[in-house]
Amino acid sequence: MKSSEIRSRFLQFFKNRKHTIIDSASLITSDEKGVTNPTLFNTAGMQPLIPYLLGKPFIKDGHEVTRLADVQKCLRTVDIDEIGDRTHATFFEMLGNWSLGDYFKEEAIKWSYEFLTSKEEGLGLDPNRLYVTVFEGDAVAAKDVEAAEIWKGIFKANTVSDGGGDTSKSENGRIFFMPASSNWWEAGENGPCGPDTEMYYDVKNVLGGKGLTHERFLEADSKREVVEVWNDVFMQYEKKDGKIVGKLPKPSVDTGAGLERLAMVMQNVDNIFDTDLLKPEMDVMKTMAKNWKIESARIVADHIRSAVFLITDGVIPSNTDRGYVLRKLIRRAVRHGQLLKMSEDGSSKLDIIVNAVILNYENVYKEVAIKKDFVIAEILKEETRFKETLNQGLKEFEKGVDAFTLFSSYGFPLELTLELAKEKGITIDVNDFNEKFKKHQELSRAGAEQKFKGGLADSNNEMVVRYHTATHLLHQALFDVLGNGVMQKGSNITTERLRFDFAHGAKMTDEEKKRVEAIVNEKIAAGLPMTQVKMSKEEAEKTGAKHFFGEKYGDEISIYYIGDSLERAYSKEFCGGPHVKNTRELAGPEGKWHFKILKEEAVAQGVRRIKAVLG
Ligand code: SER
Repeated sequence: MKSSEIRSRFLQFFKNRKHTIIDSASLITSDEKGVTNPTLFNTAGMQPLIPYLLGKPFIKDGHEVTRLADVQKCLRTVDIDEIGDRTHATFFEMLGNWSLGDYFKEEAIKWSYEFLTSKEEGLGLDPNRLYVTVFEGDAVAAKDVEAAEIWKGIFKANTVSDGGGDTSKSENGRIFFMPASSNWWEAGENGPCGPDTEMYYDVKNVLGGKGLTHERFLEADSKREVVEVWNDVFMQYEKKDGKIVGKLPKPSVDTGAGLERLAMVMQNVDNIFDTDLLKPEMDVMKTMAKNWKIESARIVADHIRSAVFLITDGVIPSNTDRGYVLRKLIRRAVRHGQLLKMSEDGSSKLDIIVNAVILNYENVYKEVAIKKDFVIAEILKEETRFKETLNQGLKEFEKGVDAFTLFSSYGFPLELTLELAKEKGITIDVNDFNEKFKKHQELSRAGAEQKFKGGLADSNNEMVVRYHTATHLLHQALFDVLGNGVMQKGSNITTERLRFDFAHGAKMTDEEKKRVEAIVNEKIAAGLPMTQVKMSKEEAEKTGAKHFFGEKYGDEISIYYIGDSLERAYSKEFCGGPHVKNTRELAGPEGKWHFKILKEEAVAQGVRRIKAVLG
């Protein structure tokens, strides 16, 4: 079965069960939701839906809907060093059906089973090769006997051996109890969470269908004789700062099935790179490579596919945050592309591989078709920049610079430095490199955590709220002074300052900065009201209010506008708030503060950053 058919069968199956089908949200999480989105990218299908899983109504065509189904683009880079094996990928698609306070364990489990096994409507997998895990319970939450009993009933009703054991024990033979490390789902420190039940398929058909011991099941998992194909999460609790703060008012269901894994099972191949999702790239490389290295080819295939989707969703290579992840992916792809020796002149032929990705996905995601020329150009530009850096780095290397500096300042992977050193007969102290590398990782991790706590996390703080409104004023003032090309690229607010990143090709002149400041100060002095209105997405789009990040909005949109009416507003943006009631509040308690730009600098090619204060 082709992957396109898996997608369409999945959506149709849940449409038949009264689910509303929604489009994938962007890969990029919204900065303004710093509180609930703990990561730079959507790493699971549930992430763009967190507010709705926590109870916010999802409005579609004027009605609240409580059942959704989608195929969500996801990106995970935690396992980047594992790419090259059979199953890891950075980009992947996740099929998901969602109950927003609607159905719970009974239906979720039943439908997962039906979709996996039904020949007519689903995937037609052999139920005798299906094994499941459920949560064994801990100090935080009880053992999920209910899910186990539901499974037992389903297996019995379908005359599948239920393992023969007692579900109150873990040695059931088909239903296995597992600890929180495997059967509890949460995305970060805040948000909805709960126990899950996972479904595994005996891809090698070696387990025999009954009497399996817990140990043998774990062994089969580690040997990848079984592959996890589906996960139903029962969202029952809410976490804040890593602690459970209570039960959700309405329990919800978050299900997820990785498309790559399902394609692997359905296409009867033992690795995701042989599925139709990645094979076109692998085939192209195979015909071109003079030096076939399967791991390198897989890294190129994976990283280029991720780069295509990241650029399509608005990321450009840079040295920070999302742009840095993209840069790293492209540079690793260039490096591994070179190892494959796909051309006489040393060029990596990335454009041909990028084209293979685009051809494979442009009919599935229209944004890929629309942006394809831009995507190819960006990837090739980054390749050129990397090669320039490599040349500079080579000169430094000849002068005897250490491996870590080559890595951190010139982007030289250690393996490259080691190769060069070998050619020159120099020895490199790998231990020294590893020590510095570890320190570097800890530092960047600490930095990342800091960032996720930032944003608008402290939305009760008066100063943060003032800076948030000031950000809207600044945004419009930049449009007034620099023109319509200004596009918001990021925003970060603390009690001390605002920070705003935007697309603009040149350094701002002093004159331009002064004009922007003057406009913002004029709007503060004018004491304009800030008003929130809510309306349907269609109406909201017609207002011309600014919106970004291809965020997944429900059908009800909140717009904040500054001015007397929405029509004549000075600024209007899609935004969840919170904001001040009147711009006068930005002048502080005594009405004496002014808006000042402290710094205007480049953060990436074509992206400027302003730091500004009220004081
Ligand atoms: N959130 C769960 C997962 O990612 C199920 O969708 O596995």
